[in-house]
Amino acid sequence: MAISPALKVGVLFALLASTQAATIQKITAPLDNNPSNVGFYLYVPDKLAPSPPILVNPHWCHGSALDAYKGTQYATLADKHGFLVIYPDSPNTADKCWDLSSPATLHHGKGGDSLGIVSMVNYTLAKYNADKGRVFATGVSSGAMMTSTLVGAYPDVFAAGSAYSGVPFGCFKAADSTNVTNTSSLVDVWGDACATGRLTQSPEAWASLVKDAYTGYTGWRPKMQLFHGTADEVLNFTVFGEEVKQWNAVLGFSQTPTTVTPDTPLPGWTKSVYGTDDWLEAYSAAGVTHNIQQQENLTLAWFDLACTGTDCFRWGKGGPWKAKA
Ligand SMILES: *[C@@H]1O[C@H](CO)[C@@H](O)[C@H](O)[C@H]1NC(C)=O
Ligand SMILES: *[C@@H]1O[C@H](CO)[C@@H](O)[C@H](O)[C@H]1NC(C)=O
Ligand SMILES: *[C@@H]1O[C@H](CO)[C@@H](O)[C@H](O)[C@H]1NC(C)=O
Ligand SMILES: *[C@@H]1O[C@H](CO)[C@@H](O)[C@H](O)[C@H]1NC(C)=O
Ligand SMILES: *[C@@H]1O[C@H](CO)[C@@H](O)[C@H](O)[C@H]1NC(C)=O
Repeated sequence: MAISPALKVGVLFALLASTQAATIQKITAPLDNNPSNVGFYLYVPDKLAPSPPILVNPHWCHGSALDAYKGTQYATLADKHGFLVIYPDSPNTADKCWDLSSPATLHHGKGGDSLGIVSMVNYTLAKYNADKGRVFATGVSSGAMMTSTLVGAYPDVFAAGSAYSGVPFGCFKAADSTNVTNTSSLVDVWGDACATGRLTQSPEAWASLVKDAYTGYTGWRPKMQLFHGTADEVLNFTVFGEEVKQWNAVLGFSQTPTTVTPDTPLPGWTKSVYGTDDWLEAYSAAGVTHNIQQQENLTLAWFDLACTGTDCFRWGKGGPWKAKA
């Protein structure tokens, strides 16, 4: 596994001071399913919303749960809006990237880091009487790739994802594993062809990776928000187009955007919306490198986490569009 491209990622994300009153906790209670031993950190704000939503925020390569906690605004925003934040911690000590390559992590209920994270969601739902219809994931870089992995393999658990500087679901899939006896060699493999943008394929081929992740699933599909810098030197901008192809094909949308809005939310960033009901939106950020600035407020709005009143989350699971597949 080549860790040098990923190494770059770790040092780029600056940490911000956190000011909230509550503090992050390390949860040591045993989980039902955590085969790869992912670390579990949880932020519970002092004032929880009734039936609180859950946000999962996986860290980047060479980062940690505590880095994600300190380096994003989500804990501060949780104080304001009353949602829970799960910060999983990668067990892959060599590079602290997520396992995005093994057959286990890429398949529903089969194991790997993704299953451990889903088990944390289960624990948190039960312990805090949280809302199972409002579980979300967001992250940057390896955290974005884990976001796509969770949304792709566990569409029954997550209602939406927001991925900054990521790649398509399954893009780091280890090469044909048919004859591999030592499956730990397939864990946490850096996908060079993917990262450099050499791996391009049809929308259908990308979508079949997602469909194979959970065969037989015909239910509701989470909505997806994507961001990528055109000058990304770690995960080439080409992969952004592949991501858009994939989720459009998964959702059954045309590859032609329904609207394109320049300079949103920042000058030089272009927002493209695909399909119906704002189910897929993709932002390309001109001149931005891998070290993209996360737009926490925009992601919060995407999840409807800042919404107050009775008309929130009408798009979500259990809402009027329940049957969306
Ligand atoms: C989470 O809980 C559901 C329902 O209780 C159960 O079917 C599923 O196996 C659990 N998943 C994990 C990863 O523990
Ligand atoms: C796996 O091994 C079998 C039998 O040796 C061989 O025919 C097949 O080509 C191998 N598959 C791969 C992907 O290497
Ligand atoms: C299996 O592969 C892992 C990772 O490549 C390696 O650390 C381990 O020693 C291997 N185990 C055996 C029994 O070869
Ligand atoms: C992305 O890949 C293209 C095609 O190989 C290349 O021209 C471009 O310079 C790469 N972008 C970056 C930022 O390295
Ligand atoms: C995000 O929204 C909060 C209000 O909820 C505001 O105080 C803050 O300035 C906003 N941040 C950005 C970067 O727009």
